[in-house]
Amino acid sequence: MKENRMPKKRIGILLIICIMILVGTSILREREVVPEPAVVDSPKIIAHRGANDRFNESTITAYKIAAEDSVDALEIDLRMTTDGELIVMHDETIDRTTNGTGEVSTYSLEEIKEFQTVDVFSQQTTMEAIPTLKEVFETFKDTEYYYIETRLVHGKLQMEEPLIELLNEFDLISQKLITIQSFSEKSLERIHKLAPDVPLTLLFSKGKFNLQEAKSVDYPFIGIEASDVTMKNVNELHRQGKEVHVFFNNKKTEKEEQERVHALNVDGYFTDNIHFTKNLLME
Ligand code: G3P
Ligand code: CA
Repeated sequence: MKENRMPKKRIGILLIICIMILVGTSILREREVVPEPAVVDSPKIIAHRGANDRFNESTITAYKIAAEDSVDALEIDLRMTTDGELIVMHDETIDRTTNGTGEVSTYSLEEIKEFQTVDVFSQQTTMEAIPTLKEVFETFKDTEYYYIETRLVHGKLQMEEPLIELLNEFDLISQKLITIQSFSEKSLERIHKLAPDVPLTLLFSKGKFNLQEAKSVDYPFIGIEASDVTMKNVNELHRQGKEVHVFFNNKKTEKEEQERVHALNVDGYFTDNIHFTKNLLME
């Protein structure tokens, strides 16, 4: 009887076809997981504490220099005085950036205005006081876009109401000139209740980035420290329709980190060197 066997040649061809199908499917699957990054048309240049490379950080002059450079936004950190005034300062204390010492929250506005700001690089004091947020708005009005950071005051929600009041007084929300950022979700939730139209950014501290959390929150922008920015993180956030805005904790490595994250197509730079970022984005 003739054996009903498949010729070896045909088995070989079938094997090759199977392998090709398997390889093709796995390539497609791979493509699904890690899509090509979307090219970001015009990433935002956000002047971190003003042009802090050329003048005392978080001063009216530092913001004026940044504005003359036509940045996309002025980044502003808030602190609160004992009498509830919102002032522009990053640190909890005035030690590093002024000629005084002590926690901001232990001074009244009148007291805090006695101090002068210091250039943190040269340690030179200039006769420029710490600005209030209101003074920043009085200076620039609706000519600039403001990217404002809120935080809890002694663990409590305190700056959100006065902030929204001030933004309304200057008509900045209706003119869409505001983004509010915070490391505190509680603060962002309060802002959202008070002013649902304001776009929000959830910030993650260095080493604390959580992709699942970032993907699940209902905010359009996610702020990540440069060392936590990876291709996977950027791609997955883009797939959720979110923008990635990067800040740089290490000034020594900031320029190389900007180049690295630029290659990953991030959407915004909290830059400490506006000219460098502008040049990088023009390449
Ligand atoms: O606002 C982004 C970035 O400013 C967050 O870091 O500590 O410089 O306020 P920090
Ligand atoms: Ca900030």
